[in-house]
Formats: sequence, structure tokens, C-alpha cells
Amino acid sequence: MDKIIVEGGRSLKGEVKIGGAKNAALPILVSSLLADGENTYHNVPKLQDIESVKSLLSHLGAKIESEGNTVRIDASGLCNSEAPYDLVRKMRASVLVLGPLVARLKKARVSLPGGCAIGARPINLHLKGLAQLGASIELNHGYVEASAERLKGNDIYFDIPTVTGTENLMMAAALAEGVTTLRNAAREPEIVALANILNKMGAKIKGVGNSVITIEGVSALHPVTASIIPDRIEAGTFMVASMLTGGDVTITDCEPDHLRGVINKLKITGADISVEGKSIRVKGGQNGIESVDVKTLPYPGFPTDMQAQFMVLMSVAKGLSIISETIFENRFIHVSELKRMGADIIISGNSAVIKGVPMLSAAPVMATDLRASASLILAGLAARGTTEVHRVYHLDRGYEAIEKKFAALGAAIRRAKE
Ligand code: EPZ
Repeated sequence: MDKIIVEGGRSLKGEVKIGGAKNAALPILVSSLLADGENTYHNVPKLQDIESVKSLLSHLGAKIESEGNTVRIDASGLCNSEAPYDLVRKMRASVLVLGPLVARLKKARVSLPGGCAIGARPINLHLKGLAQLGASIELNHGYVEASAERLKGNDIYFDIPTVTGTENLMMAAALAEGVTTLRNAAREPEIVALANILNKMGAKIKGVGNSVITIEGVSALHPVTASIIPDRIEAGTFMVASMLTGGDVTITDCEPDHLRGVINKLKITGADISVEGKSIRVKGGQNGIESVDVKTLPYPGFPTDMQAQFMVLMSVAKGLSIISETIFENRFIHVSELKRMGADIIISGNSAVIKGVPMLSAAPVMATDLRASASLILAGLAARGTTEVHRVYHLDRGYEAIEKKFAALGAAIRRAKE
């Protein structure tokens, strides 16, 4: 296992290029199952989660070739409808194969993903929607067994605007008979990206990006060449890092429109932010960091995947702030580690009350989930002394060579063996 060692106190300066979005690449790579023939995807980030989904797709019979950030997938040989526990447990987004497998092979046997550090994360809404499309659903021995001769369009209402639930059902409905309406659908940019690619494949999807999506089923889809959108959470992470260290960082190849919630909050903290085309420049305030309250919400609200990173900023802001986590029931695991670094945080229900301190102090800390690991790296950048972040395999699931990108911005940071 690796650890990352950060020596705090340096201001970040320079340019950082954002990679492809993990949470767009995962459903888009899975969508290759919906068509015969070779799909080519560019700007695919090199991440552990991408490796996991590639091994799952080849387990199902797809042929996969990778070269740099380009991945080619040909699912003409799709023959296996089972996603085994040992693959799904490594990456819960594997459940995204459920809809496409039922649509293409008329059946699927997919391991239930189980919980994860940040919450129970059930998939009941995925299953309810699939049943409404006519699939028979059984749960046996920790597996979902779904089957349907041909899925039939229906009017589906999501109790919660689930991101992967919307993606799963959008893919299933693309090949169903008739029209499907998804109501209270999630609106994340990653869903828009998936729908745009499905439409390029011949699907007929309208309204995506709003909370009502209509999908007119077609009999077949064809393969495409496409590029993955930039990762808004990676971009947001570097924006916070620049403000946190009083730096001057330009984030390039990003999509500022996907970051309005983060830009809005960072401006209130005193960041000097300028947006130009696909770049965002964030200069740290010369008069310290103002505190601001944040509530995580479904897109276009403030993203839950930026909550931990923003909490680090608030832990050294002036005064009190309240961060409420409304999406996941256990997404404050990073708090105990930040408190070991001197942060003054009290948790009350789904809210954290943060009293800014002048400076954090370096300590050995443990990463527990993807975004919490990023927040601990940020804390190390701002802390007095040298911080060691352990179990960084969590980090490698969602950030490509993050320590190299931070080092190129002037951070004293390196990876080492545990
Ligand atoms: C996606 O997870 C992202 N993952 C998460 O990013 C992100 O935090 C989350 O959306 C919210 O934006 C991918 O896209 C691969 P949800 P997902 O279904 O789809 C409840 C990261 O760090 N729910 O929108 O699993 C659920 O428990 C990861 O990159 C049900 O109750 O999230 C949660 O409380 C972490 N039943 C809420 O809805 C269901 O059937 C939102 O979950 C589905 C979800």
C-alpha cells in the first residue's frame, strides 16, 4: 500500500489540466454493452475504478483495448450476463450493467453492491424502475436476478433523484419498446454526457439535464467515437486547494458551467475567481478566508463530492460555518481525521459546525473514502509540518496522479511505500 507525504505551508501557483470525469466515464464505458461493434472513447481517466469497470466488461465478453487515455470497447461478443460479487464489491457502480444486460441479453445476474463507507447506498430505485419496465426481479444469495423478453416503456417516478439509477434506467429504456418517462430524474452533467452519447448511438432521449427525461425506445443502437467530459470534482478540488494555500492556480480543460455551485461558494470565501472559456483562475484572498455555510444538494446544488474538500477550507476560515450533508448518511468520516490535525468541528445530525482555527497541524492520518482522502491531502497542504496520508488506494480510485499535479503547482508532496 502507498502513502502520500505532504509538507504544508506552500502556496500553489501555475496551471493544472483537468482529466476526464470518472463519474461520466463509468456509465459511458458501460453503455458500450448496448451496441454491437467497436466504440472509441477519448479522454478516459486512468483510474482504479476505470480498470475495475474494464475487467467487468471483459468478464461479460466485451473486447477492450486501451492506449493512454483512449479506450476501445467492442461488445459484439457479449455473452455472459453475470456480474460477480468479487468484481462488484470493488466498484459499486458496476450495478450500471444491470439495465444494459437485461436490454441486450434479456437477463442479468448482478451482485448487490452492499454498503460503503459513506452510507448504505441501496439500489431499490434502480430495481423498482426496472420492474416498471417489465423486468422480473428476484433477490437470491446476495444477487439481483433480472429478466425480460423485451422491456416495455413506462412512466417512472424516482423518490430520490438517483444519479446511477437515472443512468441505469436511461440505458435500459433506450432499447425498450415504446416511450419511457423518468420523473424526478437526476440532472448531473455526467447524465447529460451519457445521454448525448446514447443519442449519438441512435437512441432518442429528450429532456436530459432537467428532471423529466423521455426515452423513445429503438430496436438497436450502433457504436460511436466520443470523448469524456472534464471531471468537475477534480477541478473543484484544485480550486479549493488554491484558495486554501493563498495561491494563484489556473485550472484548464474544465467545464466552468458544471462548477457554478462551487464557484459561488468560493467567491463568498473571498477567492478572486475569473472564468475564461474552459479555464478557471482562482487566486487566494489576501485577507484570509471568510466562512460560509454549505448544504449539499442534487445538481445543480453544491455537490456532495466537494463537501469534504470544502470542509478543510472552512476549518481554517474566519469564524463559524455550518456544512450540511443531505445526500449520504455517513459522509463525515473525514471529520475525526481533521480534528486530529487541530480542526475544531462538532457534528450534530447531518450537519457539521466548524469553528475556523488559524492553522492546522500536521499528523499521520488515514484515508477512508475517495473524497475524504482528497480532503486530507488538502489539509496537509495547509498544515504546519509534514502530514502522512495512509491508505491512498482510496484516492487512486478517483484521481489520476494527484500528487504529481500538486507537485507541479509547487507543493512539497510525494508518494512512498507504507
Ligand atoms: C453517484 O453515486 C456518484 N457515483 C457519487 O460519486 C455521488 O456522490 C452521488 O452520485 C451523488 O451525486 C457515480 O456516479 C459512479 P445516488 P450514486 O444514487 O448514483 C439514495 C464519488 O465520490 N439511493 O444519486 O450511487 C442513496 O443512498 C462518488 O465519485 C437510494 O436510496 O448516488 C443516496 O442517499 C461517491 N436508493 C442518494 O439516494 C437507490 O436506489 C443519492 O444516491 C439509489 C440511491
